[in-house]
Amino acid sequence: MEKQYRSEYKLLLDANEMNFDPSNLTIDWSKIKAFNRYPDPDSLALKEVICQELNRKESRYDSDNRYRPVSPEQLIIGTGSDEILKLILEGLTEKGSVAIAPDPSFSEYEKLTQLVQGKLVKVPCNNFKVDVEALIDAQKRNDARLIFIANPNNPTGQLISKKEIEALLINTDAWIVVDEAYAEFSQETALGLLEKYEKLLITRTLSKAYGLAALRIGYLIASERVTASLSPYKMTYNITGVSELIALQVLNDTDYSDQYIADVKALRRKAFDLLKEVNGLTLYPSEANFILVEVNTKENYSLLEKALEKNAIKVRYFKNSSNLNQDEPLHRCIRLTLTTFDEFEVLLSVIKEVMM
Ligand SMILES: Cc1ncc(COP(=O)(O)O)c(C=O)c1O
Repeated sequence: MEKQYRSEYKLLLDANEMNFDPSNLTIDWSKIKAFNRYPDPDSLALKEVICQELNRKESRYDSDNRYRPVSPEQLIIGTGSDEILKLILEGLTEKGSVAIAPDPSFSEYEKLTQLVQGKLVKVPCNNFKVDVEALIDAQKRNDARLIFIANPNNPTGQLISKKEIEALLINTDAWIVVDEAYAEFSQETALGLLEKYEKLLITRTLSKAYGLAALRIGYLIASERVTASLSPYKMTYNITGVSELIALQVLNDTDYSDQYIADVKALRRKAFDLLKEVNGLTLYPSEANFILVEVNTKENYSLLEKALEKNAIKVRYFKNSSNLNQDEPLHRCIRLTLTTFDEFEVLLSVIKEVMM
């Protein structure tokens, strides 16, 4: 039986988190004492540090020389990128509007669209690859206002190219929201397209590559005009002062994040090689900090689920083995978060026990 609390698991490989806790690193807790004062509603200091970090890192992936430094006016900070995605829907769509997302993709898109009383139309992927032509077609047929693209996609890990994003920008009459929650683990970003396309909105988070999921900080990067028009939809004091102060201190020293990203990329290569040797698994290419794996039979899937539970390893399932549905694209799939080689080895040994 599934454990009641997440804390009961020995390995948490289900939510694509870091397994390193940055709060051990640099925080001067004595600075966090002004509980009686409201935080800065614009989180300006945090925006400045995030811009520095983006401009330091992202220009490295600017193969076509289109990256322009991002300024604080182009940012909105939210309580996680979840809040930012909802704010985008609130500001740019109306009751009854259609939004579009590939299927499979991040499950929150549907929930958030429903929360604002819109409708999410899902466009099937092709062997888990996002079908850009089909998205363009669906946008036109449904007169959709907005398209969500998680890049890399969750849960598949696959990437769509900057060229394909540009095709969506050119050939649709909709806002294009590129959710880059995992972009730090890939070598691709749509940031270089912001200068040319005002209908492009990019979301990012400190929950994944910076290991700050508990703080709940995500952000939007868009043109100044778009952020100005969306700002009124934000609650004035959405970010707690405590979260902001901790994030500021941690982001002043991001070597740990650079190291973690490099380690995860190295582990990803190694994990692919090692998992490839296991019979009965189909692996999907990933540019994120997780791998999507398909198990060959319902029986093996069920055995694996039981063995992982018994060993207190939590991974992401998409359907309980008791109600697997052949028509669901993710049936018999599990998503494995990549953290450290030590944790991966423990996971691999349980997988091998079942599959070998
Ligand atoms: C694709 C994608 N977008 C957004 C999020 C949400 O991130 P946050 O913690 O910033 O709300 C996640 C979290 O798993 C995600 O996978």
